[in-house]
Amino acid sequence: MSNTPSMAVELAGVALKNPIVVASGTFGFGREYGQFYDLSQLGGICVKGLTAAPREGNPPPRIAETPMGILNSVGLQNPGVDAFIAHDLPFLRQYDLKVIANISGNTPEEYGQMCEKLSAAGVDMIEVNISCPNVKAGGLAYGTKPELAAEVTEVAKRHATVPVMVKLSPNVTDVTEIARAVADAGADALSLINTLRGMRIDVNTRRPILKMNTGGLSGPAVLPVAVRMVWEVANAVSLPILGMGGVSTGEDAAQLMLAGASAVAVGTACFADPFTPLKVRDGLCEIAASQGLERVSQLTGGVRPW
Ligand SMILES: Cc1cc2nc3c(=O)[nH]c(=O)nc-3n(C[C@H](O)[C@H](O)[C@H](O)COP(=O)(O)O)c2cc1C
Repeated sequence: MSNTPSMAVELAGVALKNPIVVASGTFGFGREYGQFYDLSQLGGICVKGLTAAPREGNPPPRIAETPMGILNSVGLQNPGVDAFIAHDLPFLRQYDLKVIANISGNTPEEYGQMCEKLSAAGVDMIEVNISCPNVKAGGLAYGTKPELAAEVTEVAKRHATVPVMVKLSPNVTDVTEIARAVADAGADALSLINTLRGMRIDVNTRRPILKMNTGGLSGPAVLPVAVRMVWEVANAVSLPILGMGGVSTGEDAAQLMLAGASAVAVGTACFADPFTPLKVRDGLCEIAASQGLERVSQLTGGVRPW
């Protein structure tokens, strides 16, 4: 007889009914996916990256398929933080799930202003993106230099009244260096990984497939990198972690949790099958049950040393 483990987890004091969140930029603001199933089945949603002003994003082509993944150079296309608060947040509030606002700024002050507006609007958490590889100003620059990462974190914390989670880039030599800087600056949680910079070339036209030349790699190909980085960060700092990168099965999610994640985000896999987050949740529950766990949270950090 198998037990049914509790799927409830906590991320920086925010209670999630299950550890499955959908990753920023892969689920929009939930409207399209909400036509397939009740979004209340998800633990939470990290919404598409918001900026202070609306952005059209980069010119196409901006998606290229790769073996076991995709490259994207979308470049933070979004309606801006005010339109999100007016139109999209009320839509998401119809559902019983945690709303995590993902933000990108050109300056630390912009991060601060967005944190103030979003806190006042009542989002559950703010995910500070310092790791977008597809924008010129700010973006990745903040996520690859410890002093800048710390500055953005500190400004965000000063202006936010909800927990602040900082999203780390894998495009660094030592992710723990940035994680420590952000933790020391007062972050409440960390999320990782964002996409890995990559490139594809059409050998006949000899042109890069993406108009921006390079893009960010995501999907199953990046899972082992994500597991490694979550494990390294979990060993370096004591903040809760939202793990992501290439998750498409319950086993993938369990790996990230064993490596140290408290919750897991599903991204690119949603494009191939919108039901993936629910399948990941059920697969994770089965693994926890087969291991006789009372709570799925018992997986967190459970990797055994050799
Ligand atoms: C098309 C696309 C758009 C994305 N947009 C954002 C974004 O706006 N903000 C952000 O922090 N991450 C963004 N990401 C990164 C994802 O949230 C996630 O960190 C990454 O794709 C790894 O997870 P996955 O392999 O499950 O997709 C984007 C990814 C994709 C594929």
